This record gives sequence, structure tokens and C-alpha cells, in this order.
Amino acid sequence: MRALALILAFGSASPLLAATTGDAPTYHRDVLPVLQRNCQECHRSGAVGPFELLTYDQARKRAADLATVTDHKTMPPWPASTSEGGPFRDARKLSDAEIQLLGNWAAAGAPEGNPADAPAPREFAADWPLGTPDLVLTPSEAYEVDASGRDEFRVFVIPSGLTEGKWIRAVDFRPGNTRAVHHILSAFDTAGRAQKLDAADPKPGYKVNNGFGLLPSGGLEGWAPGKAAHAYQPGVGRYLPAGADVLIQIHYHPSGKAETDQTSVALYFATEPVDKLVRPFLVRPPSTGPLRLRPDLVIPAGESNHEVAGTFKVPYDAHLIALLPHMHWLGKDFLLTATRPGEQEPISLIRIDRWNFNWQGVYDFLEPVALPAGTVIQMLAHFDNSDDNSSNPSHPPRIVRWGEQTTDEMCLGFLQVTRDDEHLGNQPPPRLRLKDVMGD
Ligand code: HEC
Repeated sequence: MRALALILAFGSASPLLAATTGDAPTYHRDVLPVLQRNCQECHRSGAVGPFELLTYDQARKRAADLATVTDHKTMPPWPASTSEGGPFRDARKLSDAEIQLLGNWAAAGAPEGNPADAPAPREFAADWPLGTPDLVLTPSEAYEVDASGRDEFRVFVIPSGLTEGKWIRAVDFRPGNTRAVHHILSAFDTAGRAQKLDAADPKPGYKVNNGFGLLPSGGLEGWAPGKAAHAYQPGVGRYLPAGADVLIQIHYHPSGKAETDQTSVALYFATEPVDKLVRPFLVRPPSTGPLRLRPDLVIPAGESNHEVAGTFKVPYDAHLIALLPHMHWLGKDFLLTATRPGEQEPISLIRIDRWNFNWQGVYDFLEPVALPAGTVIQMLAHFDNSDDNSSNPSHPPRIVRWGEQTTDEMCLGFLQVTRDDEHLGNQPPPRLRLKDVMGD
């Protein structure tokens, strides 16, 4: 009788009716597993997400938002296409069925269901998932992050204390405060230049607009929320020379409260002989200037779809293991392709249709991609320097050129590759020339 009344009142498509007859998804049985797999790593206490998604109440309150952000594909954050390029490690994507499920659950009034249906709580690795590191480096002082204001970029300089050079098989990070730490990049300096910059800045570390404020002697790795550390393949490594200073660049995002942070970087030394160095390739727009170092990038004021291209010709047989795209606030989309010698059709390496300055990270390929000598890597990106771009730092827009400031622009593809014919036999690697990194 009551069911009949409901049918008359709401019609057969009624979410209420569905809920009473058990058709609608419930929190414990259907929604929680999706949140555990895709959301909780960031939406839990102490992590980068602005609220928790651990309990029924926390999810119920935001049911409509959860449906909207997943439908719009802004959450979980993963700017790269999951159908083109890659495939990448730790890629985040909800299936259409999962998106539909969150939508149906919200529409049904966010029913709780039976707690007995709930999966066991998800456990998060507390310490170092790869085991005890060989060396953990931490800045000597904690840094105080302001409660509000603009995002900050700071570089901390930590002497490695190494008395001999070491091959590194893995690098991991432990953000001191995941509410404030948005991203981490790391590199090293062997010339004491970073120490000078540190000494000139009164606070711990030194402020940068981007990058490291200098050309590092070599790169290490990056971290973004949800990125799990993994070791390079056996026989592949980074080399940290004796006496190097390790640099960690941290992107801080004000959390609304004053926070302190003291982030650690962990190094794992190679246990097997290393034959191949992880080498950088840099894809950038052309430059005609005297040193050919500064690309001729000029984005007219008001232009909403300014195209920028760059190419890089692979000088030796190589394998691509990871890449990092980089633009600033005006970036709109970014594409990297590779055309192998003798092939007409390029393959897509990464495609980002909606660039998000706040979600930049290192993308690790699941399997290394072969790039035979002569392969042409093509970068194609667009910039929106119009007044309609809410990320535009200048209103009204102004002409924007290449530069380090976040109000300047860049357009870069950093590639991490190994060289097929390299057999170092655990000897220290050769010094890289600019030509090796930037191409001809
Ligand atoms: C890798 C970390 C991460 C993951 C995974 C993640 N979020 Fe978020 N989420 C954030 C951060 C950080 C913000 C704050 C806004 C920003 O920085 O983009 C946010 C904001 C939100 C917001 C507020 C939207 C807004 O515009 O402010 C909602 C709702 C949300 N997340 C839901 C989800 C759901 C649902 C999932 C899983 C399907 C999820 N998030 C997965 C990090 C994450």
C-alpha cells in the first residue's frame, strides 16, 4: 500500500522509490569502495584535499558536489588524457559506470545502506613503502607557510654529505605537511651556487618563481599527491656526485591556516651495477637569439588561442621512461608526439586538453617507449592570454614573453630517457653537454 502511494506520488522513476526497493546505490556497498580507491588518498586528515571523505556523513553532506566534480572530470585530478599517450603509472580515472553511480547516489538522496556491506577501511602506507632508505635528507629547519595569499615556491638546500659518488635506484619523498605541500621537484648542485642563494634569503631555503633559480647540475625526481615511489628498472640509475647539495623545490599552497613544513627526501642506492644513466631531453620552442638559449616566445595581449610549437630530434637510440610538461598560468593545452624514422604517423606521448597549473607532475610510463635515433619529438601547445581566462595574472592582459616569473611564460617538455648503447659498468657517467640535452 505504501509502495503504491509512492508510485502514485513520484512516478516509477522516483529515486525515493528506487531507494526503498534497494535499486539505488548505497554508501556502504557501492560508493565507499569508489571513494577508497580514487579519493581518500588526498581527502583524509593531513592530506592535500580540503576536506575528508572517510565517513558516511562527510560524503552525504557533499553528495551533489561529488557527483558534479566527477561528472566534469575535475576530480580525481589527472590532467592528461587516459585514452591517448602513456599509459602512465598511477593514472587516475573513474569509469563511466563509477561516475554514473555517484550521480545516481546523489540523485537518490545519498542513501546510507547497511554498514555491514562496507569494505574494510583502506590502509595508507605510513613510512617508506620501498623499505628503509640508504640516506634521508631533511632541511635543518622547518618552514612556516602563510595561511593565505599566493602559492609559494621555495628551494631547500641540503648537503648530501656523500664522500663518494653514488648510483641512485630510487628517490622518494615524505612531505612534512601534506595540507601545504602541493608538489615537489628535486635536483642537485655541485658548485655551491644554491648555498649562496640560500644564504642570501633570511628564511629557510630561498624563494623562486619557478624552477630552481639556477641550472642544476643534474635532476632527481618529482612528487605530487598520490604519486607512489618506484625504483628505476635494474641497471638504470641517477648519479649523485660526492659532495653534492640536494635541492628540493616545494610548491606550497596556502591551506587557510598557518602551517609548518619540513619535507624529507630519501635516496636508495643501487644494489646492482648500473649501465645506463637517466638522461634529460628538453623540447622547447625555437630561438634565434645570440646564445640560442632563450626561446622566441611572444604571446600577444588578448590572444585566446596562441599556438606554440617545438621539435627535438633524438640523437641516438633511446628509451623514454618519464616526462614532465611545463607551462605557466596561460597554458591551455599541451601535446607531445613522436614520429619514428620511416613512419608517417606520429604516436602520442602525452595529451593534456585542459592545462592546470596546479597539477603539474612527472608522468612515468608503465613501459619505456622506444625512440630510435632520428625520431622527431613534436610539442604543440596553446596559450590563452585573453581577459576571459580566469587564470590570467594580468587584467587587462599584457604582452607576455619567455621568462622565469609566473607572469611570464614557458613551454617545455622535459623527457627522461636512457641511451640504448650506454654500458657504464657502474662507472661514473660522462658529463652531459648542452647539445645532449637541448638537441641541435
Ligand atoms: C591527488 C589528490 C586528490 C584526489 C585523488 C582527489 N582529490 Fe578532490 N581535491 C583535491 C584538492 C587538492 C582539492 C582542492 C582544489 C584543488 O586544488 O584543485 C580538491 C577538491 C575537491 C572538491 C571541491 C571542488 C572545488 O571546486 O573546490 C571536491 C568536491 C572533491 N575534491 C572531490 C573529490 C572526489 C569525489 C574524488 C575521488 C573521485 C577526489 N576529490 C579525489 C585533491 C584530490
